[in-house]
Amino acid sequence: MLTIRKYCRKDRTAVQDICVETSWLKDNDTPTNRTMLTSLYSDYYTDFTDNTFVAEQEGEVTGYILACDDHADFSRKMRSLYLPLVRKLSFRQYISQKRTVRFWNKTALSGVAHMHIDITEKCQRQGVGRKLLYALARHLESKKAHTVMLLCSTDNVKGCNFYKKYGFTEHSEHWGCTLFVVTLSKLLANCKPDVVQ
Ligand SMILES: CC(C)(COP(=O)(O)OP(=O)(O)OC[C@H]1O[C@@H](n2cnc3c(N)ncnc32)[C@H](O)[C@@H]1OP(=O)(O)O)[C@@H](O)C(=O)NCCC(=O)NCCS
Repeated sequence: MLTIRKYCRKDRTAVQDICVETSWLKDNDTPTNRTMLTSLYSDYYTDFTDNTFVAEQEGEVTGYILACDDHADFSRKMRSLYLPLVRKLSFRQYISQKRTVRFWNKTALSGVAHMHIDITEKCQRQGVGRKLLYALARHLESKKAHTVMLLCSTDNVKGCNFYKKYGFTEHSEHWGCTLFVVTLSKLLANCKPDVVQ
């Protein structure tokens, strides 16, 4: 049975595992790479926001969705806690993430959230992503947000198809990534459990 629920502290390692497993470094899961990836993509969201949801199947976390709706806080925490760590591990990733933090700070005004989503490989294409999107959209709506954005590698076919399918539009390109944008009302309508896709 699939349950979508709010993240809790005990899920932290499972979320980090999926973050690594679904990354370009999945075949190179070293402690250094793990620290770098989770500093870039999961730890801020799980540790400092209340916007994380997980999918659980037979007692196992099989996916997550994370979001940030306070870009001033994101920028402060990234610069003070995570970027210094990433800088020690990979200068290239440091430069890239610094640029991304600046980008969100400039682009995401009040009421706009950015998000990340990953589903473990064996559970993909079964509607888990859609249910997580719906849970996040309901939650952000209750926090008075109106728009969700994300950057997805332009060559990530699964990701790009997924966002287009659920109503995101391709807004612009930035460093090999497509900026996808959707309003919460459109996302809620497209991901609703009773909408046949
Ligand atoms: C992208 C991702 C989050 C989608 O989650 P999901 O649970 O598989 O998605 P759903 O089952 O809700 O939706 C399925 C839709 O996603 C897209 N999709 C999922 N897997 C796909 C694949 N292997 N090839 C092409 N499109 C795919 C399609 O649009 C698909 O609809 P269709 O089956 O009608 O063609 C998941 O595949 C994933 O975690 N991928 C690896 C990590 C990743 O790319 N994350 C996003 C980074 S920006």
